[in-house]
Amino acid sequence: MTPQRFLTGITTSGTPHLGNYVGSIRPSVRASQRADVQSFYFLADYHALIKVEDPARIQRSTLEIAASWLACGLNPERVTFYRQSDIPEIPELTWFLTCVLGKGVLNRAHAYKASVDKNTAAGLDPDADVSAGLFMYPVLMGADILMFNAHKVPVGRDQIQHIEMARDMANSFNHRYGEHFVPPEAEIEESVATLPGLDGRKMSKSYDNTIPLFAPRAQLQKLIAGIVTDSRAPGEPKAVEGSALFQIYQAFATPAETDSLRQAYANGIGWGDAKQRLFERIDQEIAPMREAYLALLADPATIEQTLLAGATKARRLATPFMGRLRQAVGLRDLRAADTGQASKAAKLERPLFKQYRESDGQFYFKLLDAQGHLLLQSLGFVTPREAGQAIARLKAEGAAALAALGDQLQPLSAEGHHHLDAALQALREGD
Ligand code: TRP
Repeated sequence: MTPQRFLTGITTSGTPHLGNYVGSIRPSVRASQRADVQSFYFLADYHALIKVEDPARIQRSTLEIAASWLACGLNPERVTFYRQSDIPEIPELTWFLTCVLGKGVLNRAHAYKASVDKNTAAGLDPDADVSAGLFMYPVLMGADILMFNAHKVPVGRDQIQHIEMARDMANSFNHRYGEHFVPPEAEIEESVATLPGLDGRKMSKSYDNTIPLFAPRAQLQKLIAGIVTDSRAPGEPKAVEGSALFQIYQAFATPAETDSLRQAYANGIGWGDAKQRLFERIDQEIAPMREAYLALLADPATIEQTLLAGATKARRLATPFMGRLRQAVGLRDLRAADTGQASKAAKLERPLFKQYRESDGQFYFKLLDAQGHLLLQSLGFVTPREAGQAIARLKAEGAAALAALGDQLQPLSAEGHHHLDAALQALREGD
């Protein structure tokens, strides 16, 4: 049995921040160290094209995100770590899935609907400024997941609908062409908190309230100093509820450290001191990785090589799988006469071995074709077991077994040989 497969994509549209680290990078790296899972992590750079028009930013973001994951301990030997655009099978599969997914399903996608609602409210054309790429986003994501038949996809709540659509695509395809895909499931990490940003709202690039994961020490300190607090003076007891500073601290600290800060709040710690404690605690965890990160950034050739090796590993699965899918949908080598119809017929009307005993007391077998014509006649065997073994060999090895069995078979004409070869071949393919 294949172990559980986990797969996650990271859109290469920006610089990783502490929210990405706590919500995605850190738990994923930990999960990737489990022996019972097989993990796939990829840089979703095709997805980035939907949002980012600046080519330099795509390239830079790809480098930064790859370096971040590696610096945080992702081991490319243990997992499959690759860049989406290095896997040409993914856009090819996207097209296959496009052809089995109802357009109406995409009309109902949250991200697309939000754009339409916004346009409608503004009195614009519903599809104003909506690219076909944005509309198709869930299909590309479905291809990412189904390409590797991932069972579990760890995502935030906002992505659940996309996983449901991937299930929909898997089921439609399977229904038409046979069982090829595992319908994936979303894995929502309840225990992983969403980190608040500088202004107390969820840390997110779209709110411009982020702290870059690998900000230099001085910048980290300065940004932390800017986290919103209330106006209580030193000495006044402070509430941990609703304190962004406290929540961020909690995401990095041990339970004992968290308790100690909670006590300090009750005792009226000054905001300046609390911020200093937060800064030191984050830096303690990040500093060693920051060094690794800077070393990696300075050596893009190594990262490029790592990603290309990851693509080779990923394509060892993707290329043959895509070959089977092409076959399944009918994109086939024309010389292969074996069309779906013919192979179904061959299964129904297969040649048949018959075993019997003659009046001489010996055991015989013969091979009849689907129409009942005699293809092969054995000589006599002393036991039924020996006859059965000869049949088993013919079934397993086909015509290649004929030479070895020659003195137990009646001689064949050249024409008979030809029919026999075809029949043995058909038998083996039918099995
Ligand atoms: N849509 C995801 C995001 O914005 C990124 C992504 C692309 C992804 N393909 C994926 C995530 C496949 C999981 C699986 O966060």
